[in-house]
Amino acid sequence: MNNFTYSVPTVIHFGKGQISHLSELKESRSRVLMVYGGGSIKKNGIYDAAMKYMGDAGLEVFELGGVTPNPRVQLVRKGIEICKKNSVDMLLAVGGGSSIDCAKLIAAGVVYGGDPWDLMLDSSLIKGALPIYCVLTLAATGSEMDNSTVISDPTINSKMDICSDYIKPKMAILDPEYTFTVSKKQTAAGAVDIMSHIFESYFTNVEGTNLQRHISEALLKTVIEYAPIALETPDNYDARANLMWCSSLALNGLLSYGAEVSWCVHPIEHELSAYYDITHGIGLAILTPVWMEYVLNEKSVSQFADYGRNVWNIIEDDNIKAATAAIDKTKTFFSSLGMPSKLSEIGIDSTHFEEMAADCVRFCEGCYMPLTKEDIVNIYNKAL
Ligand code: NZQ
Ligand code: ZN
Repeated sequence: MNNFTYSVPTVIHFGKGQISHLSELKESRSRVLMVYGGGSIKKNGIYDAAMKYMGDAGLEVFELGGVTPNPRVQLVRKGIEICKKNSVDMLLAVGGGSSIDCAKLIAAGVVYGGDPWDLMLDSSLIKGALPIYCVLTLAATGSEMDNSTVISDPTINSKMDICSDYIKPKMAILDPEYTFTVSKKQTAAGAVDIMSHIFESYFTNVEGTNLQRHISEALLKTVIEYAPIALETPDNYDARANLMWCSSLALNGLLSYGAEVSWCVHPIEHELSAYYDITHGIGLAILTPVWMEYVLNEKSVSQFADYGRNVWNIIEDDNIKAATAAIDKTKTFFSSLGMPSKLSEIGIDSTHFEEMAADCVRFCEGCYMPLTKEDIVNIYNKAL
């Protein structure tokens, strides 16, 4: 196990009615920018609840709606302007990962003062951020409890992911009932995203991390158990609750402290969403089994076999057979959630594979084998 410093400063209020904690937000600050998406929170009542409790706290509220999936730096710039003009001193994101990520870069951008895209190119420029609070409405990205933001600039086909401890949310409200209205497609894509975050640290080169591996297996089994229930019965509280808490625990450091995150599939997927504006979890569902098959070798086979035995209950002594069966189970599971399994199904052809691979190869840390540009092009081609 590697050395690590444990730091998870986000206060979580989990469960029904926890949005009332927004009334405690006053502290020494008083002017908040509320960041949200395309309007789902106005239909399901979350907007009204957030406004009520911020009113109780005596906060002056400014709004930035219209955050799109794969949030854009152009909207971040607009948010920074609103903050500067109105002396905003805190951010509240209400939504999924896109709204939270947008709020995170606004919070850092206000303190930075220059153009926020600079921060996406060099996160060491982040020297502070306004405090960020959030109300999560979709179980998927883990942004509610992590130090990462993912922002796109569609004018240059770029989607970047940066980390900084300054942008960890101070507090997150996790009310599973708020995810009852999430569509089947987004519920499934969210489940795949959670599993992919777990895979990124589960398939690791670091030895002696059995604790992290066993926690990972428990989280994977939980998603596999509850995602189909949430799809079948969107208002099943326990299914939504388990998925929501898995979302946060998959990427808050619990699994990676002492181990490592290899980030094999995420950078390859981010290129797909950068060029084609697709849903992140859909890209992951297509690429993950292909990546698993591609990196299955002498070094990795025992870990994929253990994944099969411990997560999918495969009873098989032969490592290659167990590993292959585990990859098949993964593919079949994603299909059972309604996810596509080929890029061609979502209208993507090979036109940009070379450029996309060139863009992301430096971020693919890889485990088991280093991934070259050619390897990434091969993975895209196998996913067609
Ligand atoms: O925009 P609204 O109207 O709110 O609708 C959203 C959006 O259309 C809808 N939705 C969210 N909550 C809902 C709801 N609809 C009904 N009821 C609700 N309760 O769902 C759609 C998708 O929302 P979005 O926030 O885009 O989804 P998600 O949470 O999956 O976030 C995806 C973004 O996060 C990035 C992804 O790349 C992508 O840009 N990621 C962020 C990470 C991080 N910060 O750590 C890590 C991830 O790996 C990921 O890259
Ligand atoms: Zn992800």
